[in-house]
Amino acid sequence: MKGVILAGGLGTRLYPLTKITNKHLLPVYDKPMIYYPIMTLVVSGIRDIMIVTGGNHAGEFLRLLGNGKEFGLTNLSYAYQEKEGGIAHALALAEEFVDGDKVVVVLGDNILEDSLEDAVKEFEKENGAKIFLKEVPDPRDYGVAEIQGNRIVNIEEKPQQPKTNYAVIGVYMYDPDVFEIIKTLKPSARGELEITDVNNAYIRRGELSYHILKGWWGDAGASVDALLETNLTVARKIKENPDHWWNWKQWKEKNLEGKN
Ligand code: G1P
Repeated sequence: MKGVILAGGLGTRLYPLTKITNKHLLPVYDKPMIYYPIMTLVVSGIRDIMIVTGGNHAGEFLRLLGNGKEFGLTNLSYAYQEKEGGIAHALALAEEFVDGDKVVVVLGDNILEDSLEDAVKEFEKENGAKIFLKEVPDPRDYGVAEIQGNRIVNIEEKPQQPKTNYAVIGVYMYDPDVFEIIKTLKPSARGELEITDVNNAYIRRGELSYHILKGWWGDAGASVDALLETNLTVARKIKENPDHWWNWKQWKEKNLEGKN
């Protein structure tokens, strides 16, 4: 299975923090934000990764991450998104990289406490798509899942009147059909190819499974307050549990011994 991290966009919700850099390079406690999704993929068993970015600061990713050796990656590829065309548009740039394999897509500002190892193993045996839900007090900033029985029947992108409190987080698992589905999409009202439309296409095929996330989840890029909250929570959790894989010092030591 391949991993694709989406790290484009203008980061306007974090302006002026993002005036001279890309949102995903901003700090989350002791590391740049982009480190977290890379580490999540590695602890989930995925070491062949592409980062899709864009804008004026794309070169900084190469300077920061190089060939990904520090993370224990077997391969780190990069793609450049010329315009902000949405999450599904960014994912389309990874079609050749994914090359008929299955793919785990992570939005570069989504910070997860838990590894996805079990879900990755499960998805190796499944077709279609798998998404992850988290119950939140106010889901209006997210894709929101409408659930009947134990099935998701629809996902609404940033609804004014959400039907449930289940936010669709920025981690998605897809089979290779995802690239054909993206080619059929039309831009939304905000002019973007929406990942929610991709997921709704899988619902219509009867091929969307889901997990409810147990551990903590932060959407660091949603607002300045979300960024602050994510920083404080990650800092507290690393101090409380220095053995968590978020601990960069330990990660590097283990990685040198080839253990991550
Ligand atoms: C995107 C998706 C949304 C999802 C969210 C998770 O929104 O469109 O469905 O719930 O990521 O972080 P964005 O934050 O890019 O507006």
